[in-house]
This record gives sequence, C-alpha cells and structure tokens, in this order.
Amino acid sequence: MKGVILAGGLGTRLNPLTKITNKHLLPVYDRPMITYPVECLVKAGIDDILIVTGGNHPGDFLRLLGNGGRYGVKNIGYVYQEGEGGIADALALAENHAAGGRVCVVLGDNILEKTIRTAVEEYRKQGKGARILLKEVDDPQRFGVPVLDGDKVLKIIEKPSDPPSGFAVTGIYMYDFQVFEFIKTLSPSERGELEITDVNNLYINQGTMTWSKIDGWWTDAGTFDSLLKASNLVAHGGANNN
Ligand code: G1P
Repeated sequence: MKGVILAGGLGTRLNPLTKITNKHLLPVYDRPMITYPVECLVKAGIDDILIVTGGNHPGDFLRLLGNGGRYGVKNIGYVYQEGEGGIADALALAENHAAGGRVCVVLGDNILEKTIRTAVEEYRKQGKGARILLKEVDDPQRFGVPVLDGDKVLKIIEKPSDPPSGFAVTGIYMYDFQVFEFIKTLSPSERGELEITDVNNLYINQGTMTWSKIDGWWTDAGTFDSLLKASNLVAHGGANNN
C-alpha cells in the first residue's frame, strides 16, 4: 500500500502565520508539522509516499524532506495542487502514484499519539473498499461526524451544527483504487471544495466502508488552539508511539 499526505491549502485559520509559510511546515513542539504524518506512515510500514502540496511555499517541502531518506521513506514524490479545490481534489492528484493499488491517506495536520499499524494491517486484510478512523472529541462540530447505529456508520455529516455523535472522522483514510472514480463524480460543496466526506459517504452507501477507533490521543493542528494543543501533547510523550 502506498501513502499520500495532503499538505495543500492556504491555512487561513492560522493567518498571519501562514502568510509566510505553509501550515504544514509550522513547528509542532520541536519539528515541522509534516514530519509527523510522514513518520506515522513509515511506522505503519508504508514507505512509498506522495506529498501533495500547494500554495506559495512548495519548494520548502523539498528542502525539508529531500529524498525522504532521513525519515525512513524509500520513495518520495511531490505534486502541486493548483488552487483551493479541497481534500478530495488534492487526493485526485495521487491517481498515478496509486498505480491501481490501495492508498493510506493522512492529512498533513493530523497527529496521533500511537502508531496506526494495527488499523493498516486490518485494512490490508479487508479485500476492498475503505476504512476510516474515528475518535471521540469534545468539539465534534469542527469535523466530519459519523451517524452511528451500534457498530454501523450510516453516514457522515461535515461540520454539523448539531452533531449526531461525539466522534470525529479523523484525517486518516484508507481507500482502494475506486476512490479515484468516486472523486470524478463529486461536485463542489458550499465552501467550494470537493469534500472527502462525500467520498466516504459513497463508500458507506456501497456497503464497503469499515472503521476503527483510535487508541491514544489524536489532534489536528489547523487552528491556534489545536496547534498549541498538538505541541503540548507531543512535548509530553511524543507521537506515533508503539
Ligand atoms: C477535514 C475534513 C473533516 C475531518 C478533518 C480531520 O476538515 O473535512 O471531515 O474531520 O479534516 O482533521 P478541515 O480540516 O479541512 O476543515
């Protein structure tokens, strides 16, 4: 399985920090944010990774990550997302990299306490379809939120004002190659983006979506509060632990 890290966008919620660099290059405790998702994939046994970036500072990713060797990456590639088309639009650029196979996608601002190795192994055993990772949070309205019926995810609602459960759909997604066909059928949402939640709902409707709960803490780092929280969590015990 190949890895894809989505690190585009303008990071407007972090203005003015993101006027002078890409959000995913900002520090989280003692290193740039993007190094956490890279390490997350490598520790899960995925070392062929595509970085999708955009905006005004794409060259800085190359300066930081280079050929990936120092981070344990065997093969690293970079592509550039024109404009602000959203997460699913960025993922569409990974179709060649996926080369007909499956991908594990990590949003570049998502950081976890523990390795996702077990979930990746479970997905490897799953013949087809997709897998998402859920986490209980205090502020589900900031995320994609699943409607649950027992163990079943019935659908996902993006940033609901009245959240149907206390879970967030985290930014770690595993997909088979069909994802690229699903993306081609999407239309932009109200915020003008191709939403990853729409992709996930297509898998749910098809009956091929599975999920697991994340063990240990999980956070995004795309707002001032979550960026600070991420730094503090990492400082007190590191990330991507076994
Ligand atoms: C995105 C997704 C959302 C998901 C979140 C995880 O939100 O749209 O469903 O819960 O990432 O970090 P965004 O950060 O683009 O607002």
